[in-house]
Amino acid sequence: MPAGSMIVMERVSRAFDGKAGRVTALDGIDLEVGEREFVAVIGRSGCGKSTLLRLIAGLLAPTEGQVLVAGDPVTRPRRDVSVMFQRPALLPWRSVLANVMLPVEVLGLDRRWHAAAGVAVPLADLRPDRDAHGRAVLGAGRAHQDRAFR
Ligand SMILES: Nc1ncnc2c1ncn2[C@@H]1O[C@H](COP(=O)(O)OP(=O)(O)O)[C@@H](O)[C@H]1O
Ligand SMILES: [Mg+2]
Repeated sequence: MPAGSMIVMERVSRAFDGKAGRVTALDGIDLEVGEREFVAVIGRSGCGKSTLLRLIAGLLAPTEGQVLVAGDPVTRPRRDVSVMFQRPALLPWRSVLANVMLPVEVLGLDRRWHAAAGVAVPLADLRPDRDAHGRAVLGAGRAHQDRAFR
């Protein structure tokens, strides 16, 4: 691996076995991304972009080849790799702030991040006390309950 490579993929393939047979999403991919380099992956729908990102993030394992991040083989999700999913992966019953705080809770990180998140959320023009649809969380919770009891 050349010095300064942050992400390396070596002859990486990934196949999926489904009802309609085997789909090879990626076949023999070699990729090298340097430190502080910015890379965009472009291609038609279904060409394997999301699969590539999930392999780098450790959310999927390659069928063949290997992925390295900062020189370490990727075998599981890493804390220093973030993925922004195409569809927002939000918990609708939680407020914006509580969604932002979810990783802090799950990873058992310092609660001081709560104050930082409370400052950061309004900077993104979001209301910390609202849900993902901009509604007051209490009201949204009630609407879900109403539906459940109907
Ligand atoms: N979990 C999966 N199970 C079966 N097939 C999948 C799965 N994920 C992706 N694929 C298939 O792999 C190919 C690449 O998908 P994907 O990486 O999502 O493409 P893109 O993000 O470029 O649209 C597609 O043919 C897709 O149907
Ligand atoms: Mg995709």
